[in-house]
Amino acid sequence: MAVDFSSDPTARGFFAPNRFEADVFDCEVSGKIPTDIDGAFYRVGGEWMYPPMFKDDSVFNTDGHVAMFRIKDGNCDFKNRFVRTPRYQAERKARKQLFGYYRQPAADDPSVRHIKDRTVANTNMLAHGGKLFALKEDTLPYEMDPNTLETKGPYDFKGKYKSPTFTAHPKMDERTGELITWGYEATGPASNDIFFYWIDARGNVKREVRFKAPYVSMIHDIALSPKHIIIPIYGMVTSKERLAEGKIHWGWDTRLPTYYGVLPRDGEAKDVRWFKGPERAIVHTFNAVDHPDGRLVMEAAISDSNPFPFFPDVEGKPFDGPKARTTARRITFDLNSKDDGFKEELLFQEAPGALCRIDDRYIGQDYRYGFMSYSDAGRPFDEKRGGNLRGRVSNCIGQFDFKANKLKSYFVGDTHSLNECCFVPRNASNGEEGDGYLVAVVSDYGDMRSEFVIVDAKSMEEAARVKLPFRVSMQVHGIWASSKQLPLVEPV
Ligand SMILES: [Fe+2]
Repeated sequence: MAVDFSSDPTARGFFAPNRFEADVFDCEVSGKIPTDIDGAFYRVGGEWMYPPMFKDDSVFNTDGHVAMFRIKDGNCDFKNRFVRTPRYQAERKARKQLFGYYRQPAADDPSVRHIKDRTVANTNMLAHGGKLFALKEDTLPYEMDPNTLETKGPYDFKGKYKSPTFTAHPKMDERTGELITWGYEATGPASNDIFFYWIDARGNVKREVRFKAPYVSMIHDIALSPKHIIIPIYGMVTSKERLAEGKIHWGWDTRLPTYYGVLPRDGEAKDVRWFKGPERAIVHTFNAVDHPDGRLVMEAAISDSNPFPFFPDVEGKPFDGPKARTTARRITFDLNSKDDGFKEELLFQEAPGALCRIDDRYIGQDYRYGFMSYSDAGRPFDEKRGGNLRGRVSNCIGQFDFKANKLKSYFVGDTHSLNECCFVPRNASNGEEGDGYLVAVVSDYGDMRSEFVIVDAKSMEEAARVKLPFRVSMQVHGIWASSKQLPLVEPV
């Protein structure tokens, strides 16, 4: 049977699946790409290769599609490829969708019941130890060739990484060279076991710590300070019963408290201290800092309740749009106090967004700046050219100065919406925080094509805009890797 997306109302306009793979040599550029950039921006997201089995399935279940913008000598070359997961290969062979809901195998086609790794590898990228990986938190990293984007397969760090799951937000501390990472549901679906790992720059697992969460929850992101790891636990929950009933993996439970686990970076399982507060979703983090007076302070993008409409409330309550609004907030723990509470402050409420970034060289260090794509409803939107998508645009990148409490913005255009931004250090940078550029893929709803902007991270002024001749798939996250971090060949 031929592929038919006509019954899927979401597969329309800018959001219709492309389903192709492309190479564009020497892309069209307006402005001037700075010549002090040498490396590649890798992004991953997903699109349906075949229509989903269930209309209410999550976009998190779309087939992973990796793209590379290779920048060198002021030029840009583009390439994108599907991640050849066992699932993608099986579906391609059968020419149809064979897998059911996101992280829920109950409805899988009998022909693929033997495929236990159901990942779509569509959430984030990682460059570590000279290797490139596509990540999704339900399985191991999938190694990709950094030049051809050919899929090599799952990677278990020489057999020393024991969790069957690996987060999509591992934290690389450039000062120590260690990658701090974890897997949750680490002893099987709906288990509350968390395995943490410390991996050196050569990919050797140096340390493992195992402990249990207060309840089974999505543990999507953490924050590192110089001395601590902060582990948010919140009401996005699952259970063995839920999975046995064939329900969508995640449901939202408004009754559950939020917990933050605080683990010293050199600590053991017995050292985890849990702080408790009201219902929240901690979507992503910026970073965290230790203060001499015992305060541990984290900035993160947080919402008051479920941020994802495709993960239903466990009691059947309707999705609460205003409570799903995600904003930058500061969480302060007093490690000298015996109190298990914490303080929460709203920051930059005028700039709602969820995709937090910083200058990655400062992960786990004292820092000043956050960067985030956000939605400014006061900016113009050209409905004649851009259609009815005004409410769906992320039209600015913010440079958030957390020390001076100031916001400096870049506006991308009146028919445009930004994906997550990513910091790119200047080649000759002396390491000063924020010395470099911000890059981001942009959807232009007017011209129905995708762009890639390069913005000076200090002045927040645009340097260049790469224009692709087509739309690219939805992005979840992206990373920058310099030609020193990965063995990048000269583009030909
Ligand atoms: Fe994420």
